[in-house]
Amino acid sequence: MSNQDLQAYRASLLHFLADPAFSDQSHDWHEDGLLIVADGKVQAAGDYAALHATLPPGTVVHDYSGKLLMPGFIDTHLHYPQTDMIASPAEGLLPWLETYTFPVESKFGDPAHAAGVAEFFLDELLRCGTTTAMVYCSVHPQSVDAFFTASERRGLRMVAGKVMMDRNCPDFLRDTAESSARDTEALIQRWHNRGRSLYAITPRFAPTSTEEQLHLAGELARAYPDTFIQTHVSENEAECVWVRELFPKSRSYIDVYDSYGMMRPRAMYGHCIWLDGRDRQRMAETQSAAAICPTSNLFLGSGLFDFERADFAGVPLSLATDVGGGTSFSMLQTMNEAYKVARLGGSYLPALRMFYLATLGAARAMRLEGTIGSFAAGAEADFIVIDPQATPLLQRRTGRVESLEELLFALALLGDDRAIAATYSAGRRVHVRSPS
Ligand code: GUN
Ligand code: ZN
Repeated sequence: MSNQDLQAYRASLLHFLADPAFSDQSHDWHEDGLLIVADGKVQAAGDYAALHATLPPGTVVHDYSGKLLMPGFIDTHLHYPQTDMIASPAEGLLPWLETYTFPVESKFGDPAHAAGVAEFFLDELLRCGTTTAMVYCSVHPQSVDAFFTASERRGLRMVAGKVMMDRNCPDFLRDTAESSARDTEALIQRWHNRGRSLYAITPRFAPTSTEEQLHLAGELARAYPDTFIQTHVSENEAECVWVRELFPKSRSYIDVYDSYGMMRPRAMYGHCIWLDGRDRQRMAETQSAAAICPTSNLFLGSGLFDFERADFAGVPLSLATDVGGGTSFSMLQTMNEAYKVARLGGSYLPALRMFYLATLGAARAMRLEGTIGSFAAGAEADFIVIDPQATPLLQRRTGRVESLEELLFALALLGDDRAIAATYSAGRRVHVRSPS
């Protein structure tokens, strides 16, 4: 390999090896560290003193001393068509969907509009240090093409899918069971595993799908077992009542999805608030994952995720913004609210755990460990440079921290997009913070 393929970065390095809730050796921390990237992949990560001698003479070392380098954040649930309606007021989920969400999503049949929003959305993710996301597009297949075209051009590792929705929604957003299955299969064939793009079969949520549509979604999930599945479950009490009326034979909301074969590895369930013990046990058994969306749950008044019960059952967990129900693209802001949700529910969420959930935890929940979310040798070099001095207050507070936990906690509680000095994807810099 020629020297040109090698890049090295000096900074404080952090990445995770295991879940801090269940392991004493959860992370790898090098105060003066070096990350070596070859051909867009991690070659090595460790102490500067040990590693720099291994570099071929003449290798440029990018100096981020004083900053914190870690794997890029992974946001496991958000909606790109909702970018323009983030922070829209409504009294709860169902009126919010009717009043704002559906009208805004109706515009995504226009490829030019979809392309413009996709570019802004990706810029925003990268500004916030998010290098991988699981993204809902709209019901229009064109919205998926627009999204992946934009993310592929930037070389990003992204997961996305066309919303399937054939009832209980406006006519102008309704597909049919057959058309949604046909379109989804064509999109899987066009995009899944093409470059860094990955496809998610995306029934919006049980109330907007007929049994026939859920059946066909389950068949696709079986036919393409390495695709992702994403949907919403047990977000809001009124929604849960509605699901009981629509599916009287199902034991619970998540059991609707279970009965159609949609609980399996690589299934990502948004919210998971109003679950019972059997629901959580099924998630753990099937290795279906939860996307915890605290800013959205507080904003829409949906409820509090129960970290303790989820951990007791062994549900794979991850954190997500749920933009535009969520109120920020920033995973740091998302951690801030996750911490408070845990406190209100009687749990405690250490900062180390939150950063784990936003990186390796999410990669594990998505069955992408070894590919993204850590600095394991061979992993894709998606990483961020965090500036602990990004604002006067951060500078003051982080100047006084006495442990890694305190540093990460201050970043989670006080940080946002301003704390992300740079974002790299597959070893290429895709965002640099402009001077303020
Ligand atoms: N449930 C069904 N659709 C949506 C959506 O777009 N956002 C949220 N938060 N919940 C949903
Ligand atoms: Zn959502």
